Amino acid sequence: MATSRGEFSSRLGFILAAAGSAVGLGNIWGFPTQTASNGGAAFVLVYLVLAFCLAYPAFMAELLIGRFGQANAVTSLQKMSHSLLQKRFAFLVGFGGIICAALILSFYGIIAGWMMSYAVEPVTKLVGLTDASQWVISQGLVRNLLFTALFMFLTIFIIRRGVEQGIEKWSKRLMPLMIALLAILIIYVMTLDGASAGLQAYLNPDLSRVFKPDLLVSALGQAFFSLSLGTSVMIIYGSYISKKENLVSLGAQVTLIDVSIAFLAGLLIIPAMYVAQAQGVAIYADDGSLIAGPSMVFAVLPTLFEGMGAIGLFVGFAFFILMSVAALTSSISMLEGPVSYAVERHNMQREKATTVIGILIFVISVVIILNLDFMLDLVAMVATEYGQPIIAMLCCIFVGWIWHRNSVLDELKHGNEAVEHTIFWKIWPWYTKFICPLAIATVFIHSL
Ligand code: PHE
Repeated sequence: MATSRGEFSSRLGFILAAAGSAVGLGNIWGFPTQTASNGGAAFVLVYLVLAFCLAYPAFMAELLIGRFGQANAVTSLQKMSHSLLQKRFAFLVGFGGIICAALILSFYGIIAGWMMSYAVEPVTKLVGLTDASQWVISQGLVRNLLFTALFMFLTIFIIRRGVEQGIEKWSKRLMPLMIALLAILIIYVMTLDGASAGLQAYLNPDLSRVFKPDLLVSALGQAFFSLSLGTSVMIIYGSYISKKENLVSLGAQVTLIDVSIAFLAGLLIIPAMYVAQAQGVAIYADDGSLIAGPSMVFAVLPTLFEGMGAIGLFVGFAFFILMSVAALTSSISMLEGPVSYAVERHNMQREKATTVIGILIFVISVVIILNLDFMLDLVAMVATEYGQPIIAMLCCIFVGWIWHRNSVLDELKHGNEAVEHTIFWKIWPWYTKFICPLAIATVFIHSL
């Protein structure tokens, strides 16, 4: 091993870092978008149930693998393997997760770059640079390359500094900022005309839609993306948790924060859409559904901010900074997966590994940018709809079928002596062995 390993210096440090990874564009953009296109509160309800009943157990499996292995995803999974065949399988699963994280970062960085460019727009307007303000929000090759590079630079800058000085320190700075911005924006939007109609749409479930297969598939996919599962990220973050900590409660707290912030983001975005409608902006697509996807974030909401006059400049700035910060605390976790692998398995120096891998991923981003129309969706689909569920399922299979039950219990007992007598130990092993793999497989097959 090249260097001594980093470790989160405190409980709070881990919670903020892991919540930082979990809370990202998936929560603030993906969740409200999915809610809008899947019948409002019915989706919220299903999401909450699935997040705790399926995503949390799978999340625990990944954290546990990492803390047991005290190493990158490949090494950790191999430590639990008994035969050569299992070790090879461990390599495939661990390395697959690392590739998945890299692919996600390659397209996530582009979208995060757009968020940053939209945050720059109000500033350029304020100082009277009208042409520049138009340029930063128009689709264009140079704009896309520039802002993606800037975002990747920030990600590399943090990860080069390691676990405590990089991930933990910056998560501690950025997460409170993000939560404060979110809270201020919600309070402000609630005071505007139309917000209560949005609140109604958000919180009144259309129960007839709850059991629709499409809704279940979307909700589970969203929950897995949001908890960063199947990407080696939670394995590596788990490996930086001290053996003194109670993993069961830490995992539950991170899940709770993740779900709560998604819920809060919905509380901002859906009412904001209805405020926009009250101001005359069209918020329904031709087929009668609420506008979702990129047009929601890059067309409807900016039009709303514009209609607010001078204050709209500040609101728009705060909103897109919120998005950028949320994206950054997620992107650093995506880069940490491959970097930890290069450092621990190939004896690379951390700084060098971070820069080299960061640049390689940026090169993939450039290829995507050059073929934006078809590659962005393609890479996103391959990584999140295929890669993540398959790897997450295989991690559950590792914990449920390959790892010895006694050894699982021993690992859980660190920081939680009495775990054997808790309801968690009565349910979770069984869940990870049967229910999680089956549910993930079912949803996956259905989505094909
Ligand atoms: N969970 C992050 C989000 O919701 C995305 C992510 C996926 C982060 C995979 C790390 C790994 O935006």
